Amino acid sequence: MKIDINALPPADQYKLLSSTIVPRPIALVSTWSEKGGDNAAPFSFFNVMGENPPVLVLGLETKRGSGALKDTTINIRDNGQYVVHMVDEALAQAMNICAIDFPSGESETSHAKLELAESSLVKPKRIVAAPVAFECERIALLQVSPGRNIALGKVVMMHVRDGLLDPVTHYIDPEKYHPIGRMFGRLYTRTRDHFEMVVPGHADWLANQADV
Ligand SMILES: Cc1cc2nc3c(=O)[nH]c(=O)nc-3n(C[C@H](O)[C@H](O)[C@H](O)COP(=O)(O)O)c2cc1C
Repeated sequence: MKIDINALPPADQYKLLSSTIVPRPIALVSTWSEKGGDNAAPFSFFNVMGENPPVLVLGLETKRGSGALKDTTINIRDNGQYVVHMVDEALAQAMNICAIDFPSGESETSHAKLELAESSLVKPKRIVAAPVAFECERIALLQVSPGRNIALGKVVMMHVRDGLLDPVTHYIDPEKYHPIGRMFGRLYTRTRDHFEMVVPGHADWLANQADV
């Protein structure tokens, strides 16, 4: 089945993309504004785009219905600072509360009973319960359509819950780290089912072909 995706209404394009590009990690993003105070919201159009510098990307829609910018987008545009938190199983319910469209000025984190701590280098506070937090400075906020902005951010400081990281290898312990992934709509996945694969060297691969 071939799909001319650009010929479809945006809502159908969204369904096709968000249900096929799965699972997606979830960024719980805290921001701050003079008027509204602390703000937090989840975003699954999210990933890492590079190191040196460490770059994270967020896909920010406008509000469905009104088409207004979300508070997160406004705060990233106006202040250029935010904190991206990874969402693990323990943080899932609180993340869901943070997705509620509370009026501007009502803090999602206090409704979700999430403790905040001062960040090291940015104004928005970080969520203490998160297993991993990235303090970010905006590199660019790109408007790709009237309804969609993309935030590129540089990580200026990283926080990892004690005991999760191997300080020698710099890898997180997958037996202790349980981020959730977004499938689509109300569907999520756990990330506990690991398996290993090693990319063989070319010579080994060729030798194996001869055996087949
Ligand atoms: C798991 C999850 C993932 C979400 N991902 C996105 C996303 O990638 N982009 C987006 O614009 N909204 C996303 N949303 C919706 C926003 O979290 C929601 O609109 C929120 O109220 C925005 O808050 P704000 O106005 O404080 O920024 C997601 C919601 C959930 C529950």
